[in-house]
Amino acid sequence: MDFYDVIRKRRSYRFYTDQIPEKEKIERILEAARLSPTWANMQGVKYVIVQEKAKVKDIWQAIGQKKKFQDAPIFVVGLISEKDSGKNMNGEKYYPVDFGICFEHLILAAAAEGLGTCWIGWFNEQKVKQILNIPKKYRVLGLTPMGYPQKEKSEVSDRKEVETMVFYDEFA
Ligand SMILES: Cc1cc2nc3c(=O)[nH]c(=O)nc-3n(C[C@H](O)[C@H](O)[C@H](O)COP(=O)(O)O)c2cc1C
Repeated sequence: MDFYDVIRKRRSYRFYTDQIPEKEKIERILEAARLSPTWANMQGVKYVIVQEKAKVKDIWQAIGQKKKFQDAPIFVVGLISEKDSGKNMNGEKYYPVDFGICFEHLILAAAAEGLGTCWIGWFNEQKVKQILNIPKKYRVLGLTPMGYPQKEKSEVSDRKEVETMVFYDEFA
């Protein structure tokens, strides 16, 4: 799929069929995430693919957004240790930025493979870490269901006009 088609076709899906995504697709998606840029090429982001039925259900419960994601066949959980990224000139930690770039690579690659995802930022991090046996030093900053959507959505359209966000040579 053309890159710009992928960008337009990626939508957030909250309801899925029970079809498990093909292993080869998942592998290509993880390869796209692996190739992401990161601070000083530190590559600190890790992924847990949750596919055991009982664990998928536990993760859904830890998300706790009512019926949304209830039928997700698998989840991909992203994590990073703050030590596995850098700090900017103001001393601010950059690990959430590394995380965001890597996770968006993964989400766009899933769209290119015809799979639905939904970035989930609202969930019980401690519960997720407990379910997946994730060591203390890691932060789980996002997760996503991955599978075939029950109903395809139209392309992205509900965005502000470009003029409201782009300026040339000075902020106006
Ligand atoms: C960082 C981030 C966190 C999000 N968290 C949630 C979430 O917890 N639950 C949810 O249903 N959608 C979540 N979303 C999806 C957004 O609501 C969605 O991307 C936005 O409404 C635009 O719709 P689209 O993705 O279909 O283009 C999140 C998206 C991002 C980027």
